[in-house]
Amino acid sequence: MATECTLAIIKPDAVGRGLAGEILKKISEAKFQIVAIKSLRLTKSEAEGFYAVHRERPFFKDLTEFMSSGKVVVIALEAENAISRWRETMGATDPAKAAPGTIRNTFGTSIQNNCTHGSDAPETARFEIGYFFAGMELI
Ligand code: CMP
Repeated sequence: MATECTLAIIKPDAVGRGLAGEILKKISEAKFQIVAIKSLRLTKSEAEGFYAVHRERPFFKDLTEFMSSGKVVVIALEAENAISRWRETMGATDPAKAAPGTIRNTFGTSIQNNCTHGSDAPETARFEIGYFFAGMELI
């Protein structure tokens, strides 16, 4: 299995509750390499651009308001099988359905306020990493 990259986001609910350090520790324990990392606050229109694939979904307005409500930490992660491994580490989108010990089950409070995001496929990962990082930040 080749090394691959994925985009992780620590969302405003987790950053606001002081959980960024705990989540970074879980990333380290799960043996992901951090290729690039930054903390920033998205504008509403930047959040809309990032989640454009969901623009027809009923939760799009609430999601993009939430994602622009406070600081996030965006991280390019590298590992073998990084996309599926990060999704396993986070757990299911709904914290109530996520496996015990996963980040979303441990820290998430609702399907929206689920603490973290992860890319779902290689093309999505390329788009999402490129949304936040320039090529020279990823060397
Ligand atoms: P994320 O992995 O960032 O991808 C889209 C986000 O939309 C998801 O996590 C949730 O935070 C949010 N969301 C809100 N409601 C729903 C829903 N009903 N189904 C899926 N995602 C939802």
